[in-house]
Amino acid sequence: MSAVQTFSTVRTEINGTSVQNLAHSFGTPTYVYDAAKIAERIADLHAFDVVRYAQKANSNLAVLDWVRRQGAVVDAVSAFEIQRAFAAGYVDGKEPAEIVYTADIFDTPTLDLLVKHDIHVNCGSPTMIDQYGERAPGRNITLRINPGFGHGHSQKTNTGGEQSKHGIWHDQVDDCLVRADRNGLAVTGLHMHIGSGTDLDHLAQVCSALETTARGIGRSITTISAGGGLPTLYRGDEQPVDLARYYELWDATRKRLEGEFGHKISLEIEPGRYLAAECGYLITEIRAIKQMGKNLFYLVDAGFNNLARPILYGAYHPMSICAHEANPDPKLQDVVVGGPLCESGDIFTQEEGGFVASRSLPVAAVGDFLVIECAGAYGFVMSSNYNSKPMAAEVLLRDGKPHLVRARQTFQDVIRGESIPE
Ligand code: LLP
Repeated sequence: MSAVQTFSTVRTEINGTSVQNLAHSFGTPTYVYDAAKIAERIADLHAFDVVRYAQKANSNLAVLDWVRRQGAVVDAVSAFEIQRAFAAGYVDGKEPAEIVYTADIFDTPTLDLLVKHDIHVNCGSPTMIDQYGERAPGRNITLRINPGFGHGHSQKTNTGGEQSKHGIWHDQVDDCLVRADRNGLAVTGLHMHIGSGTDLDHLAQVCSALETTARGIGRSITTISAGGGLPTLYRGDEQPVDLARYYELWDATRKRLEGEFGHKISLEIEPGRYLAAECGYLITEIRAIKQMGKNLFYLVDAGFNNLARPILYGAYHPMSICAHEANPDPKLQDVVVGGPLCESGDIFTQEEGGFVASRSLPVAAVGDFLVIECAGAYGFVMSSNYNSKPMAAEVLLRDGKPHLVRARQTFQDVIRGESIPE
């Protein structure tokens, strides 16, 4: 299990590889992922029958390939996520399904791809059952149920309750079974995901909600999915989630259903953040230091175009300094950390609502590196080309060797597809 973390504000290496060497070899800003951490987090979940990685958290092909080598399968939410899974070596037609599509709609290209490759569909809207049934009668589907409650680290990541667009409302399951019957679709599983970055108390409530819904459907159920949402540690004072207790709750639910239905039920978990957050480091360079009234700013060369979580959710990421002259015991000072974008919200030390906060970090100089940590999940994947900034490079550290797994964008990459009419 992920141990209690202590985050140092000084960092010279990432799992034995020098931050300075990484920055010099690959430039900044660069995301570095430590493959060993991903493997450890997958191993934590070995009790579950199936670990289905929610690739929306980090879908770099090298990460997907590594996740596949650790025995985990994937979830996809779009046609291109399905194609990424194929490109990383996942295949269709296996049991349990190596790729599952979970969404609340189909767009036309995605529906075509799902039908062609017989990718398992986890329906998040009653309409999807009709649309899939018309195109692929006779297949198995699962239902993503909104149990009527949810919880996340931010209101924006709460995916349950009536303010959420996600899932099939819990009291509409009978109607969904009728829709499935119309086209001979068999409902073989249930899935609930109430939010991202939640806690064990909220997650635990899902077991009994799912159990009640499963009883209403009956013996056709052969898989149940606990969804994602497992928290990861972003601050030193947080406690790791009690995975053994979480598994026991789900295993007990599964066993009761097995007893009633008289057959085996496979138990899935669908983490994104838990597998990918801790492994990721965004290495930036401090390009300017300036005093603005009471506030001292470190301005780095990454912005919210590279890591949007602070501006979107007021998310907290640990930070550390890698100075050119190593000093293991530097003097600390309160600083505000911002990026290069032409927008006041481009601040990494902010709270929800956009309030600027400060962070106690080592005294640093222009040219030192600032590392934003626990940034592997929902980091690169949510980046943009705002201000025509290129997307960062991505590096996977495997067996002590850094591999460039995505090149920094060039100007040609950024303008690709644009044209000026004659
Ligand atoms: N399964 C489903 C159906 C989901 O919608 C999600 C996340 C997951 C699994 C994985 O959840 P996780 O284990 O990562 O909590 N951008 C936000 C998070 C959005 C989560 C969206 N869905 C952030 O940066 O915190």
